[in-house]
Amino acid sequence: MMRTLLKTEFYKLFDQEPDLFFAPGRINLIGEHTDYQEGLVLPAAIPHGIYIAIAPNDSSQVRLHSVDFQEEFAFDLNSFSPKVGHWATYVMGMCSQLMQAGAKLRGFDMAIGGNIPVGAGLSSSAALSVASGLAIASVNDLVPDKKTLARYAQKSEQLFAGLNCGIMDPYASIFGESKSAILLDCRDINHDVIPIELEDYQIILVNSKVKHTLAESAYNDRRASCEESVDVLKTSFPQINTLRDLDPELLPEIESILHPDLYPKAKHVISENARVIQAAHALGKGNLGYFGDLLNQSHKSLSEDYEVSCDELDFLASKAQEMEFVLGSRMMGGGFGGCTINLVKSSETIAFEKEIRASYKDEFGIVPEFIPVELSEGAKALD
Ligand code: GLA
Repeated sequence: MMRTLLKTEFYKLFDQEPDLFFAPGRINLIGEHTDYQEGLVLPAAIPHGIYIAIAPNDSSQVRLHSVDFQEEFAFDLNSFSPKVGHWATYVMGMCSQLMQAGAKLRGFDMAIGGNIPVGAGLSSSAALSVASGLAIASVNDLVPDKKTLARYAQKSEQLFAGLNCGIMDPYASIFGESKSAILLDCRDINHDVIPIELEDYQIILVNSKVKHTLAESAYNDRRASCEESVDVLKTSFPQINTLRDLDPELLPEIESILHPDLYPKAKHVISENARVIQAAHALGKGNLGYFGDLLNQSHKSLSEDYEVSCDELDFLASKAQEMEFVLGSRMMGGGFGGCTINLVKSSETIAFEKEIRASYKDEFGIVPEFIPVELSEGAKALD
């Protein structure tokens, strides 16, 4: 559907036959705000994502068309700079990364479309970066290896969108596998594929439909506070590079060292990292009940210690956690809005949606969106 639409619009605008690429968004089962402290994360790619049609043009111009926004944007490869807040900045950032790595890029025409809700914490920006990276590399006969592409996308988002993000989102978009999650170690940037068998449960995202404006500055602040904690803790634990290097048993000692403002943030990262390991074990043994408990613990830690939740997400998570047919629920992604991830008994999804819809609407006057997700493949060229 999206492929046909994209091809038709591309042909109408640029009068050429394009090549097509797709990169998915991601969910994260557990391991939130750990990636930029070299921690562990357990994301998975989803079927929703960004589609790109591309063909070279014989100039130094890049001409972009967004099907979803019905907007155009053009820039010259010889002179461009970040356009923070604009969708085109992610394409510019990827051009910049490839050029910095030594590529001499040709101009190109590109149409972009997607079926991933923007601002819902499903990493539409990573999907756009990865899809455009694949597409631009391809029209320039470049074949960056997958990890390099993930690093380019991360750097691009840092430099061209101002978010000091970790590597999880583009990595999951690139390496995702069907019916599996990716246990990614952000220290050595390697992953294990974890097959996910949910038996009679399913993953349903609930989109709160809010995105509070402090999200990006708070994200960068949290990251900075972790770095500050590491600097302080290095005097007592000289061998550490990041919070990843500290075990939960050390928390009492860490508490006695860190300023009371810093400690809860460090505690979140250290305990969340341990939860990822426990979650991978629980999933491996088919212990969904314990996995659900870990989701709930993760939410509490993100909300109370890391302080990246908001009233809407707290409400959605706690309502879901009260339901006997929900094994676990937590906010997902950077925070301050976006989605909760919920493990819901398949036979009860209608009841789940009905109850959450009514109570959320009652409390906030917003109708939430329900997004059931399957775990899917990573980015690829399309026929
Ligand atoms: C955003 C960032 C990721 C990660 C998550 C929180 O999605 O892009 O790198 O830090 O937040 O886990």
